[in-house]
Amino acid sequence: MNNNTEENVWNEDTYEAWIKRFGTPKEAAEKIRKNPSVKLFPILQYFGDVKGRKVLNLMGSNGVKAVALSLLGAEAAVLDISEGNKRYALELAAEAGVDIKYTVSDILDLPGNELKPEYDIVFAELGIVHYFTDLKPFFEAAYSFLKKGGRFVLRDFHPVSTKLISSRGSTAKVRKHKVDGDYFDTSLEEKEVSFAKYLPEGVVEETRTVYWRRWTLGEVVTAAADSGLTIRMLSEEPNLSSEVFDKGIPKTYTLVANKV
Ligand SMILES: C[S@@+](CC[C@H](N)C(=O)[O-])C[C@H]1O[C@@H](n2cnc3c(N)ncnc32)[C@H](O)[C@@H]1O
Repeated sequence: MNNNTEENVWNEDTYEAWIKRFGTPKEAAEKIRKNPSVKLFPILQYFGDVKGRKVLNLMGSNGVKAVALSLLGAEAAVLDISEGNKRYALELAAEAGVDIKYTVSDILDLPGNELKPEYDIVFAELGIVHYFTDLKPFFEAAYSFLKKGGRFVLRDFHPVSTKLISSRGSTAKVRKHKVDGDYFDTSLEEKEVSFAKYLPEGVVEETRTVYWRRWTLGEVVTAAADSGLTIRMLSEEPNLSSEVFDKGIPKTYTLVANKV
């Protein structure tokens, strides 16, 4: 339906895939240690000084962001459904010489004792909202994790790019766009997702059917406001990695909201 394959690729990633993509945890840790802020571009600007602050990366995957935050002095935590991600993240943290807390859980099925309002900053980014067929429980979880006065930051792919436009061509010169999607499509996409479970005897693949929903920007902002968060900013972003490739098309957005 759309050509934003980055999202699809992320979803399949497990421990082995991270090694192929970033190198061993030791190799990846060396790179992060050199300049942790680079790994947090552009979202770090919305966090303020993270030193000594409790920060939770919801659906935080391989832990790269959490490790970078720890190196900057934050008390960083990750919540994610994948054991393979946890394994990579904890090895990465150990190689970087920092501690992170990593909880493996479905965000929609959190044990009550996990949902404590203990974080100054909660954030989630790049391939998040499409996992939910209802946005309410996602934003409610984010709200519940925040201390009063805390901040939630969501950065995700822009629905104009994921729902409305399809694009072809791998260089700016030959790139062509077509408006052939339906921005207001509410259908669910069925996906087979592989989760790698790391048990003492080895790796076991478990496949589950999940349903994706492509949300409009209005639906996302309204769901955030409904959860009790106070919206402070919604920024629509161009392609931040090139001045010419897909120039003029919104690629991502960042929503900043506070728990007052
Ligand atoms: C596309 S990644 C997000 C990218 C990540 N923020 C990063 O920068 O590397 C989505 C993550 O959400 C996790 N996930 C998907 N459904 C989930 C759920 N219901 N509860 C918790 N984590 C979930 C996946 O395991 C995956 O690591």
